[in-house]
Amino acid sequence: MTANQRTVSGMRPTGPLHIGHYFGALKNWVEMQNDHEAFFFVADWHALTSNYADTSRLPEFVRDMVVDWLSAGLDPEKCAIYRQSDIKETAELHLLLSMITPLGWLERCPTYKEQQQQITDKDLGNYGFLGYPVLMTADIIQHRPRWVPVGQDQQPHLELAREIVRRFNTMYGVEVFPEPEARLTPAAKCPGLDGRKMSKSYGNGIFLQDTLEELTPKIRGMFTDPARLRKSDPGNPEVCNLFPYHRLLADKETQAEVCEACTHATMGCVACKKIFMQNLQNFLEPLHERRAAILARPGMVEEILAEGRKKAKASIDATMELVREAMHMN
Ligand code: TRP
Ligand code: SF4
Repeated sequence: MTANQRTVSGMRPTGPLHIGHYFGALKNWVEMQNDHEAFFFVADWHALTSNYADTSRLPEFVRDMVVDWLSAGLDPEKCAIYRQSDIKETAELHLLLSMITPLGWLERCPTYKEQQQQITDKDLGNYGFLGYPVLMTADIIQHRPRWVPVGQDQQPHLELAREIVRRFNTMYGVEVFPEPEARLTPAAKCPGLDGRKMSKSYGNGIFLQDTLEELTPKIRGMFTDPARLRKSDPGNPEVCNLFPYHRLLADKETQAEVCEACTHATMGCVACKKIFMQNLQNFLEPLHERRAAILARPGMVEEILAEGRKKAKASIDATMELVREAMHMN
């Protein structure tokens, strides 16, 4: 494997992962670990940029996230799984990059403006929040990767990382960093069971750790196409809350059959939900088996993080030597 097949990505530990996270990111990671030198990290420093006031549950969230990742199929033999804050050199690189990043680039970043407007329950006038993309740049380029698997929402951050890289290389006259490229994961349309955004606080999500017993009544109660009061009323999958899940979990043939049967009123919503629940069970079963095996081995997550830290540290140390040399800081 060559260096240009390297890949890096991270997630902020903000609570249990749902199937939107799986289809929007994790599935792609699990595939990429097979033919890339892959680094995946829990972005606990990034969680602090907006949740700095109460950090008491952070250790628990970090742990849970690693368990979710492993249950989804990330394999510590194939990739490095580490905790962002375990690598102090990332903070050094972040500081050095902060010197060459113009404030205007950060202030103009669309995610910065949007979130400052949208999130009103906390004060996001802090320095760390503005610097979010600089820290993210350090996360990425410390491994000098080629690919960064991210969702569409992270594209502006990646663009900024590329600009910072160009500025660094030009300013210090050495090509220390290759420009990282986004490997976009198509956004998985995955509304909550009630049609609102999927969220723990709405109780409308399908989380990777949910049991079938917990999910069955929620799915029975799900609203489908409101025009289908009776089985004989034809429906429209496009306005149904359930159908997006068929797009994620059912094979193409089943999707076509469901569409046909729904629009011609030859199948009712109860039967349609049965198909979904079967597919959901097939999907979740192996995840739950792996989860049980992980939880049966206390200390496993800590071991994996320690191992991942070693791999990540080796990669970063090599980069930092070049950076310090380029900046006459060695
Ligand atoms: N900002 C990313 C998100 O919210 C998380 C993240 C932090 C990340 N550092 C990263 C993703 C580096 C990819 C690479 O989803
Ligand atoms: Fe939705 Fe299926 Fe009912 Fe059609 S048959 S409205 S797709 S649940």
